[in-house]
Amino acid sequence: MAEIIAVGGVAEGRSVDVSSGAEVDAMVDAAVSRWKGVDVLVNNVGVNLPGLLHEVPDDIIDKTLDVNVKGRLYGCRAVIPYMLAIGGGSIVNISRVNGLVSEPFLTVYSASKGAGVMLTKGVALDYVKHGIRCNVICPGWVDTPINHAHAKLLGGLDHIYDTIDSFQPIGRPGQPREIANGALFLASDEASLMTGGVVAVDGGMTSQ
Ligand SMILES: NC(=O)c1ccc[n+]([C@@H]2O[C@H](COP(=O)([O-])OP(=O)(O)OC[C@H]3O[C@@H](n4cnc5c(N)ncnc54)[C@H](O)[C@@H]3O)[C@@H](O)[C@H]2O)c1
Repeated sequence: MAEIIAVGGVAEGRSVDVSSGAEVDAMVDAAVSRWKGVDVLVNNVGVNLPGLLHEVPDDIIDKTLDVNVKGRLYGCRAVIPYMLAIGGGSIVNISRVNGLVSEPFLTVYSASKGAGVMLTKGVALDYVKHGIRCNVICPGWVDTPINHAHAKLLGGLDHIYDTIDSFQPIGRPGQPREIANGALFLASDEASLMTGGVVAVDGGMTSQ
């Protein structure tokens, strides 16, 4: 936010637990009252709590589904009435390649990311005649802290980056900006024919 403001942009933040429908509703209501409408939602928040399924306790399953699945549903549900009121909008969900393929230790996470793909298609179909587009990005391995627990189970971050060629053919982790660029395109009118789209931004990971 500070970076946006530093270059003359306008930005405001609010701390919200997306696994609470009431908190998400309140955030969207406040944003609409401040900015007089909402035409873009990027559903980005996520958790990755890896493990072998038979060892994963209930609270980890609940948290993963609450944040990664319910959080996205709540976000979409909150903005849709406002988008209907202004004749349209664009929703961009951030899933992961695990919405399409799984990886070791990611059964629960993959289930949540697969749901992100299908909820995108559901919203896209139900609101296509109302001008609301909904697309999903499936990133590959991006250099952020969400991966650290998973990296530990796979032999450590250094090992991952030394061998990244073996699973992400571009041979390097993605940078957050490269995912943001995809979201920017999908949010914009340049993507006017795209709805229900599943866009891999993954350095070739799902091309193998
Ligand atoms: N980093 C990757 O390799 C990668 C790849 C594919 C997809 N993704 C997805 O991209 C999205 C962003 O992840 P990231 O890589 O920036 O990870 P990150 O850990 O840096 O960011 C995740 C953010 O979500 C927030 N968060 C967690 N639970 C929350 C909750 N209940 N309510 C509100 N905020 C909450 C955290 O505070 C954190 O700021 C996630 O959905 C993730 O699954 C990441």
